[in-house]
Amino acid sequence: MNTPATATTFSLDGEDVPFLPGETILQAARKAGRYIPHLCWHPDFAPQGSCRVCTVKIKGRPGSACTMHAAAGQKVESNTDELNAERKMLLQMLFVEGNHFCPSCEKSGNCLLQATAYEMNMEEVLFEEFYPRRPIDASHPDILIDFNRCIMCELCVRASHDVDGKDVFAIAGHGIGTHLVVNSMSGRLGDTDMALTDRATAICPVGAILPKRRGFVIPIGERRYDAQTAADPATQEASS
Ligand code: FES
Repeated sequence: MNTPATATTFSLDGEDVPFLPGETILQAARKAGRYIPHLCWHPDFAPQGSCRVCTVKIKGRPGSACTMHAAAGQKVESNTDELNAERKMLLQMLFVEGNHFCPSCEKSGNCLLQATAYEMNMEEVLFEEFYPRRPIDASHPDILIDFNRCIMCELCVRASHDVDGKDVFAIAGHGIGTHLVVNSMSGRLGDTDMALTDRATAICPVGAILPKRRGFVIPIGERRYDAQTAADPATQEASS
């Protein structure tokens, strides 16, 4: 007996998307080559659901596509003016909350925040810049942390815990005071056993965690987002 079409598909912006049991809306959409903007999601890690950039509407109710499971017959809206305007606002808030000076950033052209902002047509920042004073930790011989660029995606926290087995990073504080911390007595990276080869070193989607002595090695024109956008399936396949 044939399985009814609605048993394994959901509707994303009016088009059927197949899914396997247990897959989230974002996983299924991505497999089908459909782009749902995201920042804190990574294919290799359990979803965190913290950035809210992937927020979609399911039967008119908002939910994060990276954490919500796909369900048969579900009607999901993602690429709408309303949702994209909200995503753009979230991105603007991230830009003003930290210090993101793209032209001088080593990660420019390879930065998911920058690429997603382009994708959402973010041409200006509507909020007043905070210009927070955040430290730069250069205490490690091989790795630099610029907390000014951290977007709290927690990918380094997950990578250090799940892959490296080190728990070098954690999140501290509440609300506006929430911030990334280094798990050492001094709070400095140089006093941890983090290594250049750790997954946590390479996972940062922005320019907050960088290897030292390798600045601007990828020429302009060859960077990840020079030829592709954040929405290109090939770019979505790329993982740090
Ligand atoms: Fe879903 Fe960040 S990608 S909440």
